[in-house]
Amino acid sequence: MDHFNYKNQQLFAEDVAVADIIAQHGTPAYIYSRATLERHWHAFNNAFGDHPHLICFAVKSNSNIALLNVMARLGSGFDIVSQGELERVIAAGGEPSKVVFSGVAKSHAEIARALEVGIHCFNVESLSELKRINHVAGEMDKVAPISLRVNPDVDAHTHPYISTGLKENKFGVSVSQAREVYRFAKTLPNVKIVGMDCHIGSQLTELQPFLDATDRLIVLMEQLKQDGIELHHLDLGGGLGVPYTSETPPHPTEYTAALLAKLRDYPELEIILEPGRAITANAGILVTKVEYLKQNEDRNFAIVDTGMNDMIRPALYEAYMRIIEVDQSISREKAVYDVVGPICETSDFLGKQRELAIAEGDLIAMRSAGAYGATMSSTYNSRPQAAEIMVDGSQFHLIKQRATFADLWRLEKLLPA
Ligand code: LLP
Repeated sequence: MDHFNYKNQQLFAEDVAVADIIAQHGTPAYIYSRATLERHWHAFNNAFGDHPHLICFAVKSNSNIALLNVMARLGSGFDIVSQGELERVIAAGGEPSKVVFSGVAKSHAEIARALEVGIHCFNVESLSELKRINHVAGEMDKVAPISLRVNPDVDAHTHPYISTGLKENKFGVSVSQAREVYRFAKTLPNVKIVGMDCHIGSQLTELQPFLDATDRLIVLMEQLKQDGIELHHLDLGGGLGVPYTSETPPHPTEYTAALLAKLRDYPELEIILEPGRAITANAGILVTKVEYLKQNEDRNFAIVDTGMNDMIRPALYEAYMRIIEVDQSISREKAVYDVVGPICETSDFLGKQRELAIAEGDLIAMRSAGAYGATMSSTYNSRPQAAEIMVDGSQFHLIKQRATFADLWRLEKLLPA
């Protein structure tokens, strides 16, 4: 459930009319609902009850520092994949001791910074990375907390670009090699084994792949016990899907209950989850203006002022995301449109064959845009990125200014005369 609803046929974000926000801040704009973010985070956090757990919000899904700050105030942990994300978490007031650091390419500098601030755990993705972490920690006279990201070879039944737990994927250490790598880690002086993690993919709409992965990790955990390796936590990654349209993903409560049932014999084991999309996707919309309507023999096009530069998911994954009118009170004729952006690429569309009642100048909103929208945006075709606004009850706050044209080349330089 989210807090984007119609009141008197006007789209509202919590208690604020979307049109009022746009009158002040213009289009295109991402609008987030704080109450929705908090509701989704609590759905995960409350589901664990007394069982030791840590919800590590996946920063990549939305890394605006205001949003991270909302998470930090709830006491959330964070899943990061770069020093940039770590610095954002710190700037937002997040606690480094609740950060888990995933990602296949951690550099020397990134590892050093994470050790300096004292993160919860490195989610190690290869033998080479393990050796590097041990080396960097040695240089700093520290002991690095580590978990091995195990690739359980489970099919997540999701889009191939966002599936990560198969042997052919670059992520983690295969389940068959992991025991050896753990044994090796045990011999290293500057790492401390604290956990095991996996992340099998994103936008999962069924429980079974998560449970299959958990089973494989439990088998490995038991083998490690025989090697004298006891884990403090098990991190099952993110990946729980959201309803973009007719999908019916399990609720976090259902997911968590199924996990806890499997882990009944491990009451002391801390469970970490790294949800991103399930917290942010339906807590955000992308509002855009219809610049032109155009027709040919084949199609009606609604040409809007945002596209793949601000929201690349339809272009990249052929993702279906709902598109709705902001004001449904004005009477307009309904028609079926391809909603397309200003970018000079055929893949620049927000949605195809959508029935909409719109005229030029109207506002429309793309739903479920809070995850992997702003974070994946670019300035392609030299279009300044969208403004971002957070609604909080009857208030709204600008949390990212619309970039200026000069911002587009701020870091660039002319050649000498
Ligand atoms: N943990 C790790 C290690 C991850 O790689 C990811 C996402 C997450 C957690 C969070 O997954 P979530 O709960 O959001 O599904 N850009 C794509 C999604 C890529 C996800 C990458 N990893 C999209 O727009 O669908």
